[in-house]
Amino acid sequence: MLRTHTCGQLRETDAKATVTLAGWVHRRRDHGGLIFVDLRDRYGFTQVVFDPKDKALFTKAEHIRPEWVIQIIGTVTKRLEGAAREDNPTGAIEIRVSDITVLNEAKTPPFEIDQDKDVSEELRLEFRYLDLRKERMRKNIITRHKIVQSIRKFFYDRDFLEVETPILIKGTPEGSREYLVPSRLYHGEFYVLPQSPQQLKQLTMVAGLDRYMQIARCFRDEDQRGDRQPEFTQVDVEMSFAEPEDVMQLTEQSLIELTKEIRPDVKILKTPFPRFTYHDAMNTYGSDKPDLRFDLTFTDVSDLCKGAGFGIFAKAVESGGVVKCLRVPGGAKFSRKEIDDLTETAKIYGAKGLAWIKVNDGGCEGVPVEKLGADLTKKIASAAKGAAGDILFFTADQFDTACTSLGAVRTELAKRMNLADPKVFAYCWVNDFPMFEKDKDTGAVAAVHHPFTRPKNEDKDLLDTDPLKARAAAYDIVLNGSEIGGGSIRIHESDLQSKIFEILKISKEDAERRFGHLLRAFQYGAPPHGGIAWGVDRIVMLFCNEPNIREVIAYPKDQKAKDLMLGSPSPMPKEQIAELGIKIMEEK
Ligand code: AMO
Repeated sequence: MLRTHTCGQLRETDAKATVTLAGWVHRRRDHGGLIFVDLRDRYGFTQVVFDPKDKALFTKAEHIRPEWVIQIIGTVTKRLEGAAREDNPTGAIEIRVSDITVLNEAKTPPFEIDQDKDVSEELRLEFRYLDLRKERMRKNIITRHKIVQSIRKFFYDRDFLEVETPILIKGTPEGSREYLVPSRLYHGEFYVLPQSPQQLKQLTMVAGLDRYMQIARCFRDEDQRGDRQPEFTQVDVEMSFAEPEDVMQLTEQSLIELTKEIRPDVKILKTPFPRFTYHDAMNTYGSDKPDLRFDLTFTDVSDLCKGAGFGIFAKAVESGGVVKCLRVPGGAKFSRKEIDDLTETAKIYGAKGLAWIKVNDGGCEGVPVEKLGADLTKKIASAAKGAAGDILFFTADQFDTACTSLGAVRTELAKRMNLADPKVFAYCWVNDFPMFEKDKDTGAVAAVHHPFTRPKNEDKDLLDTDPLKARAAAYDIVLNGSEIGGGSIRIHESDLQSKIFEILKISKEDAERRFGHLLRAFQYGAPPHGGIAWGVDRIVMLFCNEPNIREVIAYPKDQKAKDLMLGSPSPMPKEQIAELGIKIMEEK
């Protein structure tokens, strides 16, 4: 090695040793005739000192610039009394340099590595290898590694086999658009990149491997958001002869151990993790991934609003909808502008508006008050446990819209009022999702999880009579308002699987063409099985307290699905495209 020690290694006990270090010039300071350099590598920083007595050496030191790669030989020296830096593990020593070699010079970087200034994300992603030199990013990448290592160990210790599944596969539709890879050998035919290894892990159960896990890369061509990437990583798990409880217990145990190991400073809000049915989560928090770190819950005031003088409320109830109320303690002080902004949030999620009543010492104020009358207003306020100084927000609509839009207001309020304690990890389960949902625009029936999810045993008959009412044996795991994982017990019988395809309006021929391999496999002794997949990027993001998953992925795509460092996607040579039997349409 070109070094004897790393830049994070030397301590007071090494004093007097002659060492060789190699690393990057993090910072150079000229002080009282001496030159100080903070030498940096992955492991830390070491202060190295150049003395003007050695003229040739000093002249070399005067030339070095930030981010040059240098090698130094020197003597470990205990720092003077009062000069030790306790915030740095190597802060008790410095190296008195006797020789320096410049291993590589560096251009001035497009942004400073030693400072935490705001730099545009575009520039950071274009020069990601420089961005990763920053301490925060380095820590995130190391935490990610530790998390993955710990998860692997957990599953390996419990007899799970890591099986690699292919990346060039046939589609595994799970609701998103697929990435296609054209075949050179079979013109007009395509491989598909897996949205997840869903069908392959099920086939692995048919293969009798019993317990499977994989740190799996998944690909989905969907709109980007802070918690979504076109390629992302899952901890993918599947177990034979398992029931929902088995998968949930194992997940819970693993997440508790992981939290204690990686974030010993946080408190897990509640164990065993609270569980909500999908309906209850929507009804109480307006979200199927509720953040439990703060209280704000809904009160259903539909019954009180039946036939009320305030038309918006009364009409919603008349047409089979609901009136939901969110009480915000201390919210009576909100300005008009603040309320207007929250109304805009509600509207994004389909609400026609956001009614409000402020509860004051002397009575209530707000548009609905006069129409509802003092008595009813009082009843509604008391149902929501409103006290002087509170504001009550209302959405009146069909159940889903009323809940979802008020849920978005709840989340936004928590952000603005800083209600979520960053030292609390609130896990919960959401289950009993519906099997199917109807697309609002097209009316098409789609699987809420994926088409391989099993209905709850007690709801199986509903598949024939009222499939939209059938609930799935599915479960989502939620942390601090983020869905960090989801899974289900699967269908393992080909006739039941065919029935689900029928409900999804997938014709027999289409089912055979797309899923023939699975239906066939189920005819050769498929064990009952189920599993789960966790979103690794989201978990690391939450464990690192980062605002989006790009901060915890070494080489992410930007918000428009581009790799700014590599410059991809990019045009390809004509001959290479022709080989694939493909013609690019001219853009107008
Ligand atoms: P699902 O689609 O719910 O389930 O995905 C599981 C978890 O993966 C994460 N996730 C994502 N993370 C980053 N970017 C994305 N685009 C993205 N999409 C999903 C989420 C999510 O909870 N095969 C099933 C699992 C199963 O049934 O076992 C599946 O993939 O945290």
